Amino acid sequence: MNTDKQEGLDNYQVQIAPSLLSADFTCLKDDIRQVEAAGCRILHLDVMDGHFVPNITIGPVIARAIRRVTDLYLGAHLMIEEPARYLQAFADSGVDEITIHQEIEADFVEVIKEIKSLGLRAGVSIRPKTEVSVIKPALRYLDLILIMSVEPGFGGQQFIPGSEEKIRTARSLVDRENSDIIIAVDGGITIETAPAAARAGATELIAGNVIFEGDIIKNIEALRESVADPGYPPPKSF
Ligand code: DX5
Ligand code: ZN
Repeated sequence: MNTDKQEGLDNYQVQIAPSLLSADFTCLKDDIRQVEAAGCRILHLDVMDGHFVPNITIGPVIARAIRRVTDLYLGAHLMIEEPARYLQAFADSGVDEITIHQEIEADFVEVIKEIKSLGLRAGVSIRPKTEVSVIKPALRYLDLILIMSVEPGFGGQQFIPGSEEKIRTARSLVDRENSDIIIAVDGGITIETAPAAARAGATELIAGNVIFEGDIIKNIEALRESVADPGYPPPKSF
């Protein structure tokens, strides 16, 4: 079922994945309905533990509540120091994909394997200062590479210039392997920064602030419009 949902993500060359971190938490369902109405297929859930990053956000309880009100593909981005402790809880909550950070103290490849063994899609994310090459040992297990273009922890930050270069590196790594791993970019995505990220090879643009401030549907349409013609040949996965 999870795989089918991802395979269905083919209407647009680049997917917009709204990050609920910037949504109105007092009426999440309403905001999710707007995201659905705008034609998005993915919801991005930012999970923070106040340890790996300085902020604390949502956990499996909220993920489960969200699952009850939507069929959207749910991607959980775990910015937490001990993801292995919570994999089962997130799997039980009904998310489709779990992304962990390469920089955790534990062996991230082992955690990726555990995510796969739970029947979920698996992603790895890297902070702005982490080299793309460190993910190589996990390549054969991965469904997603998530390049952070801000320091993880908070929404509404500025895209770090030069992040495009890391996206390009990840894209060539994936294409060289002839793999269909999705490359996502997360942080500071706006109609100004999205085109360069898409041109560099990102096919999933995660965006919070720019979507949930104001008219959600119009904001998503504007963002989609900004990458309608990224000037990059569609990656092999499309
Ligand atoms: C930051 C999160 C992002 C964040 C993106 O640590 O991982 O998903 O919500 O938000 P914007 O688009 O506001 O930078
Ligand atoms: Zn995120």
